[in-house]
Amino acid sequence: MTTSSTHSLSSQGSTAQELAELAAAVGRRRNFAIISHPDAGKTTLTEKLLLYGGAIQQAGAVKAKGEQRKVTSDWMELEKQRGISITSTVLQFDYAGSTINLLDTPGHQDFSEDTYRTLAAADNAVMLEDAAKGLEPQTRKLFEVCRMRRIPIFTFINKMDRPGREPLELLDEIEQELGLACWPVNWPIGSGDRFRGVIDRRTKKVVLFERAERGKQSNERRLDSSDPELATLVEPELLAAALEELELLDGAGADLDLELVHAGELSPVFFGSAMTNFGVRPFLDAFLELAQKPTARQSAAGEVDPLSPDFTGFVFKLQANMDPRHRDRVAFVRVCSGKFEKDMAVRHARSGKTIRLSRPQKLFGQDREVVDEAFPGDVIGLNNPGMFAIGDTLYVGSKVEYEGIPCFSPEIFAWLRNPNPSAFKSFRKGVNELREEGAVQVLYDTDQSKRDPILAAVGQLQLEVVQYRLEHEYGVQTRIEPLGFNVARWVSGGWPALEKVGRIFNCKTVRDAWDRPVLLFKNDWNLNQLAEDHPDLELSAVAPVVSGVEPIAL
Ligand code: G4P
Repeated sequence: MTTSSTHSLSSQGSTAQELAELAAAVGRRRNFAIISHPDAGKTTLTEKLLLYGGAIQQAGAVKAKGEQRKVTSDWMELEKQRGISITSTVLQFDYAGSTINLLDTPGHQDFSEDTYRTLAAADNAVMLEDAAKGLEPQTRKLFEVCRMRRIPIFTFINKMDRPGREPLELLDEIEQELGLACWPVNWPIGSGDRFRGVIDRRTKKVVLFERAERGKQSNERRLDSSDPELATLVEPELLAAALEELELLDGAGADLDLELVHAGELSPVFFGSAMTNFGVRPFLDAFLELAQKPTARQSAAGEVDPLSPDFTGFVFKLQANMDPRHRDRVAFVRVCSGKFEKDMAVRHARSGKTIRLSRPQKLFGQDREVVDEAFPGDVIGLNNPGMFAIGDTLYVGSKVEYEGIPCFSPEIFAWLRNPNPSAFKSFRKGVNELREEGAVQVLYDTDQSKRDPILAAVGQLQLEVVQYRLEHEYGVQTRIEPLGFNVARWVSGGWPALEKVGRIFNCKTVRDAWDRPVLLFKNDWNLNQLAEDHPDLELSAVAPVVSGVEPIAL
């Protein structure tokens, strides 16, 4: 990649043919991320989805656990030690004339801000639930991010081959707790040992449950729900009960309103069993029909249509050291409009520089290949010699600056100590670079004599990654000292609003990297107490997005 001050390209001269190519590419694309709690079956479902796309020959190739994991970098070493998946990538595959981009999010309990940020690049989300467990904590958190962006949510209720909760109860939980209306696209017949299949609600066809041979695509058998042969295949009382429940649902009246689905207010629901490969194909087919195509994105100057001929995109994730032999850093860019081409000269909105993108990459799991072109909804990986930050916009033609990606409310806070003063320069460099990269949020004490940074993270793993990387990439050993706070709130009115309130109890005031006050609380109870005592003090769980201002470095 080279930078220069030449003018950026403009594609004013796009031909009708090029515009038609763009429209066809956008029309063909669907992009989504899976949100779930660990163990709900995300890896298993991903494998099965890829199998239909012919992207892998044998399901199991994605599963990066145990011996199957190939250690390709230092970075992976930490993952190997912990047996987890930190790095998230993008899996692209073609199926039934569509190009699908699955934005993979780290699946571990100790998830980090990366998981949230990935959702900023997704047009749709698939909420995966274990039928026996229903809604779980991580799913709820991720759902909140989807809700903020109003992205369509498709629900897949997994593990139907095992004893689970009542389907109506599971839907009720989603409706009551998340305030998300549900529209079952299919309905299960029995569950656990007596799981016999699903009834497609729109065609009233029964899809019979059969365990597909491992690694094979399933050919689910379909029969009309009035077919007499069914009586020999499914216990009549189970079928009758399922049909009765479906009637009840239909009686409730609501239609499958695509507008509501696309506004993130109505979730199409599917039942299946990823492990036995049941219900995955029907899900994929319906998903392609109902999901949102790459949509217009909000920029400082209004919405940008994906069909606008000029290329635009934004950085939603940075990954350093994927291959330590090259000490590389990759910026993941979501293409938002126009066609992206290799060797294109684009403008970097924050610095105003023009950059030639000579080696854009497509990442598939841990493999990479150079891409020649990409379209809205796709993700490309760019080598990042330290110039890209999370939220940066790249564009061609007239200036576009996309809304930044918010910092998510951290829940873990710790002093980062550098016990060796002679290593301060490296310590400072490492902390600043890791903050820029978005590996962790950095806060500072209001008492300027306490110079050590406070790391703020949404997952414990982020702190470990920071320590590990400081040691291996910057040569500094550090110590972490937990602060004992669990909740952070930004003060909307800044320092003046805080001064007006006077002394506050049971909370610690710190500064963020933009010198804005942040209040740390031990628990929600203390936070609620403050809200009761000072109802006028406006607090926000999410840091307001900053653009155009450089943060304070350590
Ligand atoms: P995750 O990525 O969401 O963490 O979940 P993963 O796919 O690894 O699945 C977690 C466990 O649940 C795995 O079992 C997996 O086989 C099982 N599982 C996934 N889908 C289904 C399903 O539809 N039915 C049933 N019965 N089980 C399912 P494991 O014992 O932890 O791993 P393994 O022995 O399969 O490797």
